[in-house]
Amino acid sequence: MKTINVAVIGVGVVGSSVIEILQQNKDIIQARTGALIVPKIGIVRNIHNKNVSIPLSTNIDDALEDPEIDIVVELMGGIDLPYKIALRALANKKSFVTANKAMLAYHRHELESKMSGSSIGFEASVCGGIPIIKALRDGLCANHILSIRGIMNGTSNYILTQMSNNNTDFTTALKQAQKLGYAEADPALDINGSDSAHKLLILASLAYGIHAKIEDIIVEGIENISLEDIRFAYEHDYSIKLLGIAKKQDNALELRVHLCMIPKDSMLAKTDGAMNAISVIGDKVGESVYYGAGAGGNETASSVVSDIIEIVRSKTAPMLGYVADFQHGLEQNMVLLPKDKIISRYYVRLQVDDKPGVLAHIANILAAHNISIQSLIQRKPKDLDTHSALLLLATHTCAEVQIKKALESLEKLKEVSKKPYMIRIESL
Ligand code: HSE
Repeated sequence: MKTINVAVIGVGVVGSSVIEILQQNKDIIQARTGALIVPKIGIVRNIHNKNVSIPLSTNIDDALEDPEIDIVVELMGGIDLPYKIALRALANKKSFVTANKAMLAYHRHELESKMSGSSIGFEASVCGGIPIIKALRDGLCANHILSIRGIMNGTSNYILTQMSNNNTDFTTALKQAQKLGYAEADPALDINGSDSAHKLLILASLAYGIHAKIEDIIVEGIENISLEDIRFAYEHDYSIKLLGIAKKQDNALELRVHLCMIPKDSMLAKTDGAMNAISVIGDKVGESVYYGAGAGGNETASSVVSDIIEIVRSKTAPMLGYVADFQHGLEQNMVLLPKDKIISRYYVRLQVDDKPGVLAHIANILAAHNISIQSLIQRKPKDLDTHSALLLLATHTCAEVQIKKALESLEKLKEVSKKPYMIRIESL
């Protein structure tokens, strides 16, 4: 039986689980690959306090320059250093497996172009334990993908669930998520939408072959949501979720990450806590939904080891699912829809002076931007001063550019005392 040696760079929660799975599930892995896969060395910053059963080193060359290492697994996080490590691994003809969505969000296409004879696995980079990469690249590859909509960040979903179900305020919910270990080292990436955007860009490359960049797409987080917004959503039969959305119309593709009000009976709305879920619609298969753990040691390691197994089985699908000729074909002609042209319905929260004529001013501004109000309510929460009120309204559909301009005008009204807040309403 052949032996395959693996080096694990970054032996934290996920790295330790990868080593454990390779050891504890050796029997089934051998049966499925016909090979003995050995975690030969772990590369760490600091050897002390590491409780793992394989040799450790602080010298990265022990992974990258050892001719006996076949597969390098990168689980250290960051962008520049992991990218350099990936390049060195590929240059040394080693296969490379990573869970690093931030690095792939910037460098996935360059990495693919550097593969020659070796493979790159990145199943764990999007939604941890859910095999969405292989679903898009393999299981659904007969389809044109019409849309992808998903809850791709467990931390923000946990916070939204706590706010909705238990009335917990934002800051307390974030602290709970950090304590439970869901958040990134820098939790700003979870709550400002960047982590979801990194994952969406990877999925968009697989589904559409498009080389999109984070700065070209709408990326908004959950930081400014209030319990009033959640109450409005509840009363109108919506749930509020942070979604990554890819939607194709003709040859234009919308890519965006932002809060959405979605019908509360939908499967995505029912995805609570730190769980992730992704709905994919293919032109032939229709809708399929993938639900599972988006983070966690064993859950993420399950995907990492599946990549190792795929590599050992010598399946040679191109990294992002398109062979060279096709990359210059149909999907390559797809353009990213400019942010301003996205069409949606919108919920708007306005904090205003509670006096005659204010509503008329607001209605006039919306009318001037050709935006039609679908519903409107006024609230007076206890914590608001007696001269103020909240106006919560939902619009009919309009273009992003219209609502953005209307919000700018509304912000300038002297009767509007706080920056207007908007959430898109997504019909699934
Ligand atoms: N911080 C991420 C999340 C973990 O909360 O979903 C996996 O990417």
